[in-house]
Amino acid sequence: MFVKYAYTPHQLHSKTNTLMEALHLTLLFLISLTVVHSLSPNCESTSHGSTLRVYHVSSPCSPFRPKTSLSWEESVLQMQADDKTRLVYLTSLVAGRSFVLIGSGRQIIQSPTYIVKANIGTPAQSLLMALDTSTDMALVPCAGCLGCSSSTFDSTKSVSFSSLACGADQCKQVQSSSCPGTTCSLNMTYGGSTIAANLAQDNVTLATDSVIGYSFSCVEKVSGGSFPPQGVLGLGRGPLSFVSQSKSLYMSTFSYCLPSFKSSNFSGTLRLGLNGQPKNIKFTPLLVNPRRTSLYYVNLIGIRVGSKVVNIPQGALAFNPNTGAGTIIDSGTVFTRLVDAAYTAVRDEFRRRMGKAAVSSLGGFDTCYTVPIGKRVPTMTFMFPGLNMSLPQDNFLIHSSSGSTTCLAMSASPALNVIANMQQQNHRVLFDIPNSRLGVSREICS
Ligand SMILES: *[C@@H]1O[C@H](CO)[C@@H](O)[C@H](O)[C@H]1NC(C)=O
Ligand SMILES: *[C@@H]1O[C@H](CO)[C@@H](O)[C@H](O)[C@H]1NC(C)=O
Ligand SMILES: *[C@@H]1O[C@H](CO)[C@@H](O)[C@H](O)[C@H]1NC(C)=O
Ligand SMILES: *[C@@H]1O[C@H](CO)[C@@H](O)[C@H](O)[C@H]1NC(C)=O
Repeated sequence: MFVKYAYTPHQLHSKTNTLMEALHLTLLFLISLTVVHSLSPNCESTSHGSTLRVYHVSSPCSPFRPKTSLSWEESVLQMQADDKTRLVYLTSLVAGRSFVLIGSGRQIIQSPTYIVKANIGTPAQSLLMALDTSTDMALVPCAGCLGCSSSTFDSTKSVSFSSLACGADQCKQVQSSSCPGTTCSLNMTYGGSTIAANLAQDNVTLATDSVIGYSFSCVEKVSGGSFPPQGVLGLGRGPLSFVSQSKSLYMSTFSYCLPSFKSSNFSGTLRLGLNGQPKNIKFTPLLVNPRRTSLYYVNLIGIRVGSKVVNIPQGALAFNPNTGAGTIIDSGTVFTRLVDAAYTAVRDEFRRRMGKAAVSSLGGFDTCYTVPIGKRVPTMTFMFPGLNMSLPQDNFLIHSSSGSTTCLAMSASPALNVIANMQQQNHRVLFDIPNSRLGVSREICS
């Protein structure tokens, strides 16, 4: 059973440094709005051609930046709780069944942490939607939605909006759909949230071009804290995702660069289509799991710590479409998860490299140091056929704001390896679906 693993102490985490930076920014806000204006990225400017700004959820441009100050430890624990929920969710996708959340009393917020501005309808209404490479259909909070934030899409103000009827093909593609009335409706889970929605269509514009008659879920009711306030843009590879529905425009090809957690400049880019994609980039094949068509599986074949290829049991990394085991790359999880045997091997080698420095833990992180370790830190490399992804320290270590604590920002997972967004920051990650391959190259976009 995938669903029931309880939360062992060394399970994970979430997005971290981010919040620290956000705190810093929040303070700046208090001090002077003018100063913050000049420091913040230009929140209004969006797209050039088919290139969009990507903001971190806590950036000054984001309405979701934390309103209250958390201590560093509180932020880490919060993010760990978020990731934990997301991992359960991803695992439920893998298992091909929905799950009941255990421990839902926690105050949790789902962690797709990067957002883009989407224009929906005619005239256009803007929402800052969370990028989620592991979800297909977009989830748009619609006016009147119970449990949504105040930013919603008002379909009555759009002349190009229409509801999808039960007979529509899209309705048949959604497993959980049903037709109590004439409109196609569905109940679903997203992370720890339960969602009731109707299927609808309208034009959606991310960059310059409109996707006419884009099908999405118009969310009517939400419970649970995992649903991002202004909705989810699904960039999975299944039939109802943005990638599939905009295929004639963008050839099912996109890339993003997620800005650093540490930077006060939170802008990165989501690039749609073939234009402007990097030419010098190494690729590794994407693997298809027919039972979980939305997820981007890759073949992680090894992990190097420093120059040493860590000895990981074969089975820990193997792709198995039947059980869903293997490795996915995901934009919504914050900290990388490795199945137990792989995590333990990587962590032990990392600790060995740290020598005698005393190890402590923080929430789900079990490899933290309170002494300076900078000089000893080895590089870490994820190895794929055709591609080695070498991570700079910032992509696998988190530091407390005072600099007194540093943790290895990864943890163990019961079933699935997830290459998370912290590990992807300041890289161009290219999803080339027609050629079924994933490209990664270093790009500083902070
Ligand atoms: C939406 O699509 C309709 C055609 O269905 C078109 O007339 C209208 O201009 C489009 N609106 C936008 C904002 O692209
Ligand atoms: C969704 O769940 C609610 C409450 O359990 C139920 O009344 C409704 O009929 C369900 N709708 C669909 C489409 O399954
Ligand atoms: C990745 O690194 C390993 C050595 O650790 C090397 O054998 C392999 O050829 C490299 N792969 C690529 C694609 O560069
Ligand atoms: C912010 O990032 C953008 C995009 O990478 C870059 O062009 C710009 O110079 C950066 N601004 C600052 C102040 O660092």
